[in-house]
Amino acid sequence: METMTLFRFLKFLAISPFHICFSYGIGSSKIMCLEIERQTLVKFKHDLKDPSNRLSSWAVIDCCQWTGVVCDNFTGHVHEIHLRYPYCHPDSPFESYGFKAYSRLKLGGRISSSSLDLKHLRHLDLSCNDFGGIQMPSFIDSLMYLNLSGAGFSV
Ligand SMILES: *[C@@H]1O[C@H](CO)[C@@H](O)[C@H](O)[C@H]1NC(C)=O
Ligand SMILES: *[C@@H]1O[C@H](CO)[C@@H](O)[C@H](O)[C@H]1NC(C)=O
Repeated sequence: METMTLFRFLKFLAISPFHICFSYGIGSSKIMCLEIERQTLVKFKHDLKDPSNRLSSWAVIDCCQWTGVVCDNFTGHVHEIHLRYPYCHPDSPFESYGFKAYSRLKLGGRISSSSLDLKHLRHLDLSCNDFGGIQMPSFIDSLMYLNLSGAGFSV
């Protein structure tokens, strides 16, 4: 039992020494995101069109603090991305919230498979945005939850 625990601890240490330091900070349970995943998200953002700057928080050092980004509390890996159009009405976002607001707040652009190469990503919600008929990204197979409904992806 003890050996097992030690093994798991060492494995964790080997994977992310950086985070060990943080989790042993003074009473702080705050985990920071991994630099490599941060860089991936920066690329992802770079390819997006975000006219109203919904992703303005995507600039601070810790990407776990970014709007819509959920990290694992223990490892700091990015597990979830929630970027649905905020006022989504499943049937008609346009009519319910006005075309002007929609054209301002929707996200668009492109998503390359390398731009979201996050090994631990499980949940991606981009629903009700407007990706103008681009291909569905190929990494989607590995996700447990994917919602691209009403976001203008073609299959
Ligand atoms: C992670 O931490 C946040 C804030 O401290 C908390 O709201 C959330 O429930 C935690 N998630 C898990 C899976 O423990
Ligand atoms: C997918 O997103 C739409 C629009 O945001 C929402 O109405 C629907 O409930 C979501 N589907 C699932 C399975 O969560």
